[in-house]
Amino acid sequence: MRSLRTGLSLASLLATLGTLLLTAPAAHAADTPLRDLGTAKGKVIGTAVTGSKLTGTYGDIAGAQFSSLTPGNAMKWGSVEPTQGSFNWAEADQIVNFAEAHGQQVRGHTLVWHSQNPSWLTNGSWTPAQLGTLLDNHIATEAGRYKGRIAAWDVVNEPFNEDGTYRSTLWYNGLGSGYIARALTDARAADPAAKLYINDYNVEGVNAKSTALYNLVKSLKEQGVPIDGVGLQAHLILGQVPSTLQQNIQRFADLGVDVAITELDIRMALPADSTKLAQQKADYKAVTAACVAVTRCVNLTVWGFADSDSWVDSTFPGYGAATPYDANYAPKPAYYGIAEALGGTTTPPPTGACSAAYSVPSQWNTGFTGNVTISCSGASLSSWKVTWTYGAGQQITQAWNATCTQTGAAVSCTNASYNGTVPDGGSVTFGFNANWSGSNPVPTVTLG
Ligand code: XIL
Repeated sequence: MRSLRTGLSLASLLATLGTLLLTAPAAHAADTPLRDLGTAKGKVIGTAVTGSKLTGTYGDIAGAQFSSLTPGNAMKWGSVEPTQGSFNWAEADQIVNFAEAHGQQVRGHTLVWHSQNPSWLTNGSWTPAQLGTLLDNHIATEAGRYKGRIAAWDVVNEPFNEDGTYRSTLWYNGLGSGYIARALTDARAADPAAKLYINDYNVEGVNAKSTALYNLVKSLKEQGVPIDGVGLQAHLILGQVPSTLQQNIQRFADLGVDVAITELDIRMALPADSTKLAQQKADYKAVTAACVAVTRCVNLTVWGFADSDSWVDSTFPGYGAATPYDANYAPKPAYYGIAEALGGTTTPPPTGACSAAYSVPSQWNTGFTGNVTISCSGASLSSWKVTWTYGAGQQITQAWNATCTQTGAAVSCTNASYNGTVPDGGSVTFGFNANWSGSNPVPTVTLG
C-alpha cells in the first residue's frame, strides 16, 4: 500500500485536470423513448413480441419503447386452435393484457393465411361450403374474443405472388379470390372498431405485387367491402430500401386507406461490422422517414426488437443482426436511426473502446506519484500493457498494481496477476513513484 500525500501543487493539479479533460464523455442512451418520439409525429411505434419473454429487460424495453405490440405467433390459427374445437388463448391473452397494462395498442396478426395453420385444417378435405364456414367461424371466434381490444387486424396475410397473381392457397383454391372480401366482412362484423388490413411482403416499393395489392384495395373500396389499411411487412436486406417506398405509401394513402409498416427488419450477411451497422442505421432511418413523410402512415412496427428475438437468423441462413437492439438488449445504431427520423436528437454512444489516462496526483521537490487508469466502455480487456516516453528525464523508482520497466525514456507497464481484467464499464488503476528535475510534463500514454 502506498501512503497518501496531501497538498497537491498547482502544477500537479493542472496536470491532473489536463488529463481529466481528455476523458471522453459518458455515453447516453436516448432520453426519449421511441413511443414518445412517435406520438409527437402522430406515429404508433410497435414491435412483434413473444408472450413468454415479457419479463425482465425484454419486458421493460417492450413496455417503455413501443406503443403497439403484435403477437409474433400467438394469434395465428395454428397457435390458437391446434386441435379442432380446442382453443389455446394463453399467450395471446398475455400479450393483450400486457399491452393494456402499458397503454399500448395491439395489432392482431393474423386471421387468414396460408402458413402456420393447424394440421387438422390443412390436411382436411373440405368442400367450398365447409371451408367458407370454417373461415367465418374462425374469424367470428378470434376477432370476437378480442372485440374492442385490437386496434388493427391483419385480416388477410400474404395473398399475392411476386408477379401480382393470387397465391395458390387453401383459401384461394377453395373459395376463389372472394375469400378476401368475405374475411374482411366477417372481421368487421366480429369487431367493428378494429381497423382491417391486408398485409404482404415485397410490396414496399412500386412493383407488380404492390400494384396488384393497390388494384385489389381499390376494387374492394369500390364494392364497399370494409378495408381500412395495407400492411407493408418490410423484411428488407441491408442497403436495399426501395427508392419508391414513400411514393408507394403515398399512393395507398391517396386511395383512402391507412398504411402500416408491419414487420420491419433489415438483415445483413453475418458477421456484422461497424460499416454494415452504419448502413443499417441509414436504412432504418430511411424507412422511418418515409412513414413520417406520409400522414396516413400510422404505424411502424419492427418484427422483434432484439437480434436475439428475430426470425431472420433461422430463416435466412448466413444473415442476421436485423433488429434495432443487439442480443444483449443494447440499442444499435439502427435504434438511433429510427429515433433520429422521429425527431430525436440523441447521438449514439461511441463504438466500444478502452483507453488509458495518466495523472499526477502528488508532486514534491524531487519526486512525484503518478497514476494510470485504464477504462473500458462497450469493450473489455483480459490483460493490458501501457507504454509512454518521458520527455524530461523522469525516472520511475517503484510501481504498484502493475509491473513497470523503464529503458532510457521508454516506460512499459503490464498488469499484475490479479488486475488484467477490465470489464465493460469498469476501470483499473495502477500507480508509481518517480524522480523528476527541471520540469515534469505529462506524457502521451498508449494502451496496447
Ligand atoms: C414468423 C415468426 O416470426 C416466426 O417465429 C415463425 O416461425 C414464422 O413466422 N411474415 C409474417 C409473419 O407475416 O407472421 C412471419 O412471422 C414472418 C413473415
